[in-house]
Amino acid sequence: MRRHLEIVRLLADGGLHSGETIARRLGISRAALWKALRKADEALGLGIESVRGQGYRLPRPLELLEAGAISAALDAQVREHLTGLEVLADVDSTSSHVLRRADEGAASGLVCLAERQRAGRGRRGRTWVSPFGCNLYLSILWRYPLAPADLGGLSLAAGTAVGEALMAAGAEGIVLKWPNDVHWRRRKIAGLLLEVSGEAQGPSQVVVGVGVNLDLDAAQAAAIDQPWADMREALGGRHAGRNRTAAALVQRLTLALAGYDPARMAGILDDWRRLDGYRGEPVELIAGERRIAGVYVGIDPQGALLLESDGATRAFMAGEVSLRPRA
Ligand code: BTN
Repeated sequence: MRRHLEIVRLLADGGLHSGETIARRLGISRAALWKALRKADEALGLGIESVRGQGYRLPRPLELLEAGAISAALDAQVREHLTGLEVLADVDSTSSHVLRRADEGAASGLVCLAERQRAGRGRRGRTWVSPFGCNLYLSILWRYPLAPADLGGLSLAAGTAVGEALMAAGAEGIVLKWPNDVHWRRRKIAGLLLEVSGEAQGPSQVVVGVGVNLDLDAAQAAAIDQPWADMREALGGRHAGRNRTAAALVQRLTLALAGYDPARMAGILDDWRRLDGYRGEPVELIAGERRIAGVYVGIDPQGALLLESDGATRAFMAGEVSLRPRA
């Protein structure tokens, strides 16, 4: 992996680099170079191009994640809450990694980002498409003295924090789709996965995993089974930078997690409602095999979804169902 990353760093500017230069920088022979490039390409799915007689390049420049740059862009108050900021080149899933670290006793406030996930996980057993070097995949561990049942508002609070982070990174027109999908122009631009565990009376822990589409090409996105958008499109052709956007996410998520208090549920709901993108719209609720058509009329004081159908309004909790706009 170290050799693969060295190669990525050498090619990251997107320019053409001669075989001779790359081989010299890596300290290997020209003969060994081709094999090394092919291996890195295969391992990371980089799409390295070879230009006859001139050298090698990436199809587009890459901005690699740097823990130092992300940390430097955080407020001091946020930095104080964090107990670690790991940037991994390659992982199965940042959330699985952070769960493992939690099992080993990692402290609250551990953040992990990865350049790529081999088995990125989405809600309801879906996979999260996670190619190398172009999006953000991030997980944070937080521990609470509270019972897991008291963490019901976290899912909405974290969704609001991610929506606000993307706005801070320059995207206009960001909305939320219950419970915490982040949408732009009715397409998904970011998703969250919260994994809560603990003792019935507390303490408890949550791992919040966030995936943000920053710059996906059509080939990479072919496996996504729902309408998607990325920050590049939302910002008119160029996103704010991977490290800058990552810092905006860590900043707001940390404040939301550190400040979470179930007694302040009303404020969490108000903040979430300000970004609600689908209230009053015809929707379909998907609950396992069942489909229920109705009008989504908002959220109740517990954060449950309210669906009006056949003259009645019913509440559904997150986890049970997912919401699909019909329009
Ligand atoms: C969703 O289905 O909307 C949730 C997607 C969550 C994806 C993120 S990417 C970082 C973290 N690691 C994972 O395996 N999943 C989450």
